[in-house]
Amino acid sequence: MVKKEVKSKNDFKVTPYEVEGNVDYSRLIKEFGISKIDSKLLDKIKKHTGELHFMLRRGIFFAHRDMDWLLEEYEKGNKFFLYTGRGPSGKVHLGHLFPWLFTKWLQDKFGVELWFQMTDDEKFLFKDNLSLEEANKTAYENALDVIAMGFDPKKTKIIVDTDNAGLMYKEALRVSKKITFSMVRSSFGFNESSNIGEIFYTSMQAVPAFLPSVISKKEIPCLIPHAVDQDPHFRLTRDILPKLGHYKPASIQCCFLPPLNGMEGKMGTTNEESGVINTTDTPEEVKRKINKYAFSGGQATIEEHRKLGGNPDVDVSFQYLKMFFEPDDAKLAKIEKDYRSGKMLTGELKQILIEKINTFLKEHQKKREEAKKHLDKFLFKK
Ligand code: TYM
Repeated sequence: MVKKEVKSKNDFKVTPYEVEGNVDYSRLIKEFGISKIDSKLLDKIKKHTGELHFMLRRGIFFAHRDMDWLLEEYEKGNKFFLYTGRGPSGKVHLGHLFPWLFTKWLQDKFGVELWFQMTDDEKFLFKDNLSLEEANKTAYENALDVIAMGFDPKKTKIIVDTDNAGLMYKEALRVSKKITFSMVRSSFGFNESSNIGEIFYTSMQAVPAFLPSVISKKEIPCLIPHAVDQDPHFRLTRDILPKLGHYKPASIQCCFLPPLNGMEGKMGTTNEESGVINTTDTPEEVKRKINKYAFSGGQATIEEHRKLGGNPDVDVSFQYLKMFFEPDDAKLAKIEKDYRSGKMLTGELKQILIEKINTFLKEHQKKREEAKKHLDKFLFKK
């Protein structure tokens, strides 16, 4: 795919295949036609969950499509299922776990099924140097990270696109017949040299949004948690599914966990060393990466920092605590206050984050290892 230039500082771009520039989420809400999650919706969610996840309280899950409808159906006894996924192109990093942590909370609170799609086909088609065999193998490696999040094995089904193609292909065909090239061109940035597999692919990502309805021969509402980069796929899906006699899927969308080095865009595999913490990183790697690369909002010298204080709004370590690793609002507020006033130094803030991530990863890696024994229970078979 040909990369388009991001022209000015206020210019940014979000597609499933490129996130560039400084993303303005309020503008994105307008451009994508998604709805902001407001206090009224939060109250409706809270009615069912009893409490609000910190990612909702802090506006990290910030937008949605049709959540009001989904909750109305739920209240009528028409339970939904969850659908999310992963494009297995390499190791899983903290950015990927981010929507999965929230998805796990939704599964626990609503007691619903999760359908998890591994798109080995997508990554083979979109990545220049990835073989189909490697993408397929990576799907099963990445599935261990999904299972390690603690999803309920009785209520969770992992689909691997190429291995479940027999079931999925027929449904993808029905979707693809309703999509023209001009519909996908602008959404995904395709051009004359895009391969034709890329052009077809979005039909495969549409399928899990209605597959459980096809299997059970009964229409079931679907809720898709994801970061906002995936919205173009589901905007199309929502246009097509009613034409095939299915519900439009609802979605709940989060912003991006930034790269460690504070660069624009999302945490992604292109800046592996300075931008990304993988779930398989050792405690030493985590410590080294954060100390060396985590973009700091602190002052140049300790004296200046004590005098002027730090800026948590741009400090990546603080942002990681806020977005992922410090769910306790009171503790987070204390860190913010101390950092802003200059009482807490950058080194101390980084140390808090290193400990939090390493505690989290120690547990995650243990569960990831155990997941190898349970993989089979999660794989969808038909
Ligand atoms: P993938 O593998 O790029 O990403 C998996 C999930 O992680 C989200 N994500 C992030 N969230 C926060 N911060 C980040 N830095 C960050 N980077 C990635 C993605 O939005 C996604 O939710 N095509 C998809 C796979 C897929 C899928 C789905 C995703 C298939 N069906 C349904 C979501 C919902 C992909 O390549 O995701």
